[in-house]
Amino acid sequence: MVGAGHKEALRSEEVLTAGRRRRSPLCMKLFIDSGDIDEIREAQAMGAIDGVTTNPSLLAKAGRPTKEVLMAICELVDGPISGEVVATDYQGILTEGRELAALHPNIVVKVPLIEEGLKAVKTFTDEGIKTNVTLCFSAPQALLAAKAGATYISPFVGRIDDIGGEGMDLVEQIVAIYDNYDFDTQVLTASVRNPTHFIQAALIGSHVATVPFKVIRQLLKHPLTDNGLARFLEDAKKIPTS
Ligand code: E4P
Repeated sequence: MVGAGHKEALRSEEVLTAGRRRRSPLCMKLFIDSGDIDEIREAQAMGAIDGVTTNPSLLAKAGRPTKEVLMAICELVDGPISGEVVATDYQGILTEGRELAALHPNIVVKVPLIEEGLKAVKTFTDEGIKTNVTLCFSAPQALLAAKAGATYISPFVGRIDDIGGEGMDLVEQIVAIYDNYDFDTQVLTASVRNPTHFIQAALIGSHVATVPFKVIRQLLKHPLTDNGLARFLEDAKKIPTS
């Protein structure tokens, strides 16, 4: 999908759009998708992460109250930390989201991509509260979220692949649409299941990818690195010490 043809298309788009503002950041940001303090600490120690996303399923595994876990994450990581509301009505989303936002200036309120959610995103935007619109599975959904003023849109690529679709095609469409109309909403590639998703997100120009710790570890692994290191360490033993 992201082959020579795609690069050619990007080049011609650059020509077509010469003079217009490109929204790509200097480097794709890497968030960890986790509610596990220990693994967030480990990823943080690797210097790898710029922020954190959580969801109710991840926090259920943490076995502690949501606000407690979010506060602990905020103490560890100085970057955007997404905490999700579980209310599904406008007033409920507002109440919950405001409470989450009051916890720490880095909190981003994660809101589901439903009608009541978009209304709440518009209000949060007017109040200066950052939002991450989650459970995005189509380009029109992403366009509506951007119009409501979402800070981030989260297309779930792995879950689209799970039902036989091409999750990365959606990321490509959203990046193109947001670039066409200079939306400030950042594309946060979510439901990342493997290093290929991650590198495709970077090639497409996604602003952020949120990645489980298991996949962050896979990103750094290469058998030639391990074999090469083993050989260097073996040969080092043969070096005379005096
Ligand atoms: C994103 O913010 C979600 O927490 C997450 O990426 C969902 O991933 P999953 O489809 O692997 O549960």
